[in-house]
Amino acid sequence: MKGWMGKFRMLFLFGALSLILSGCGVDNISALKPEGYGSELLFDLMLISIAIMLFVFVIVMAIYTFVIIRYRQKKGQEDYIPKQTEGNKALEIIWTVIPIILLLVLAVPTVQATFDLADNSGSEEEGAINIEVTGNQYWWHFNYKGQEISTSQDLYIPKDKRVHLTMKSTDVIHSFWVPSIAGKMDTNPGDNQNTMSLEAYEEGEYLGQCAELCGPSHSLMDFRVIAVSQEEFDQWVEDMKNVDPEAQPESDVAREGQELFNNNCMSCHAIGSAPAGVGPNMTNFANRSKIAGILDPTKENLVDWIVHPDEIKPGNQMPSNLVNEDEAEKIAEYLLQLDHTDVTPESAEQN
Ligand code: CUA
Repeated sequence: MKGWMGKFRMLFLFGALSLILSGCGVDNISALKPEGYGSELLFDLMLISIAIMLFVFVIVMAIYTFVIIRYRQKKGQEDYIPKQTEGNKALEIIWTVIPIILLLVLAVPTVQATFDLADNSGSEEEGAINIEVTGNQYWWHFNYKGQEISTSQDLYIPKDKRVHLTMKSTDVIHSFWVPSIAGKMDTNPGDNQNTMSLEAYEEGEYLGQCAELCGPSHSLMDFRVIAVSQEEFDQWVEDMKNVDPEAQPESDVAREGQELFNNNCMSCHAIGSAPAGVGPNMTNFANRSKIAGILDPTKENLVDWIVHPDEIKPGNQMPSNLVNEDEAEKIAEYLLQLDHTDVTPESAEQN
């Protein structure tokens, strides 16, 4: 009796838990709401495998139910032993052939999709957008090849266009994953570069996450893909190419912040088209939807981050207490006015 209660308690617990957990999550990081080429391919594969599993489940359950009802022990026949059968060629062939067919139905589209997802053949075409993605503990760098655009954390792409990515890492293996629009791909240290293509069908901001355990702040290694219209993207490219890294801010405080930033932070960070440094590129920082990938973009959070990065993202490379709170305020003032373009996540039509 107690055992039964125990089982029901677990059932209740799991039932409640799955109900609660199904309320978690946000729309723009769901593989179940595909908004792009890669995620659509993967979603279709999920549907095929679920259909096959359901098919097998229903048939097995139907046979099972039929057999336990039809062949159960009947009253007055307790000692009756039915005819014993061993081997049945026809049946054995059937239950060997059916799984083979089902596996083929599953395998062919899976292998096809695997190759399609890694297909980068369009990267050589004229007008193709090629982006080098670099994973770092714990941030992402994006280098637009041939455009001299370097940026971190926010990856801008035009919608309805296949974008080609080559992936690498400066330290350990990370994995680039934007569930709503793409599959995931490892970024490897060394010369073993993976490739992947990306396409968003709708404008919007899609959340990305590192999907390979890469250190204490792995779960905080967030980034964003921002899909905008082709016109907005062209504008963004134009704006990003014309960034003047030395532009003087208007306010005195921000100018002081600029000097502090140049003296303390520039050895790792960069503004403008400079290649990836030890730290993220700060171009267009004022338009990032998050600070360090995870904090809301308020001045208070930014100051906190500048002074105590290790408390927010343990194990990251940025030194703590490099500047004091006063100096951090000024640096924050400077960074929050690095508004290099009108094309922002908010300007992209949200879905
Ligand atoms: Cu990078 Cu996990």
